Amino acid sequence: MTTILHVDGVKLAFGGVKALDGVTFDVPAGEIVGLIGPNGAGKTTLFDCISGYQRPDEGSITYDGNVELVGLPPHERVTHGIGRLFQQARMFPSVSIRDVLKTVQHRRMKAGLFRSVLGLARAEEREVTARADEALELVGLTAHADKPAMELSTGMLRLCELAAIVAVRPRLLLLDEPSSGIAQKETEALLPLLKRLRDHLDATVLVIEHDMPLVMGLADRIVAMAQGKVLTEGTPAVVQRHPDVLASYLGTRAAR
Ligand SMILES: Nc1ncnc2c1ncn2[C@@H]1O[C@H](COP(=O)(O)OP(=O)(O)O)[C@@H](O)[C@H]1O
Ligand SMILES: [Mg+2]
Repeated sequence: MTTILHVDGVKLAFGGVKALDGVTFDVPAGEIVGLIGPNGAGKTTLFDCISGYQRPDEGSITYDGNVELVGLPPHERVTHGIGRLFQQARMFPSVSIRDVLKTVQHRRMKAGLFRSVLGLARAEEREVTARADEALELVGLTAHADKPAMELSTGMLRLCELAAIVAVRPRLLLLDEPSSGIAQKETEALLPLLKRLRDHLDATVLVIEHDMPLVMGLADRIVAMAQGKVLTEGTPAVVQRHPDVLASYLGTRAAR
């Protein structure tokens, strides 16, 4: 099995707080890996390190065999095919969501001027529109394509944010709490949807999620963190039975 992401001994402290205290794990290509752990475990900080918004004090993060991500600026990660769930739709409240999805792609396309000089702009425009529509269809928002983001429910906005990732066709998706702020019924729909996105993009997914039924049903493999460290990892069935994981979720203090 190929490893697409290798996290090795990553440490990052904020003042006296060791947010990441030597995190090591592998993400196999094509899998959905769930990252769980109590509040403050360091999950989001780890995502920030992978996507370049924080730089680890120590350790390395290798992508696709030989690309060292530590020190690489965020936009270069995009060209390597790393996509992170952002609140794209919310940034353009009065623009139609189809146009949001087109804008997201244009901002990632290089050499736009040369393409227009060469007369490729129209072909590119068609491709960008097709990708936006395809992404909207995948997440089930086709009927709302012409509506501005501000007319959508929170759950629909989340779907639109997922579509924004799909439109740029990443190979590695980083999703931080996709179920946060949406209704239970919408959360249940996320499970088949995220699997569909993975299959459609032929991508790898690293997902932080606090909804245990969702993440346990979704993930091929779980990495459980606590206090800046990997507590345990393995299949959902195995990780769920780990005493420290049970302790974390019962609200008692995790061992060490
Ligand atoms: N930018 C920051 N400045 C200072 N402390 C931070 C910062 N980001 C996170 N932390 C601290 O690092 C620890 C891990 O936080 P975080 O990665 O957000 O955890 P999680 O996502 O697992 O809830 C927490 O103690 C948090 O307060
Ligand atoms: Mg977090």
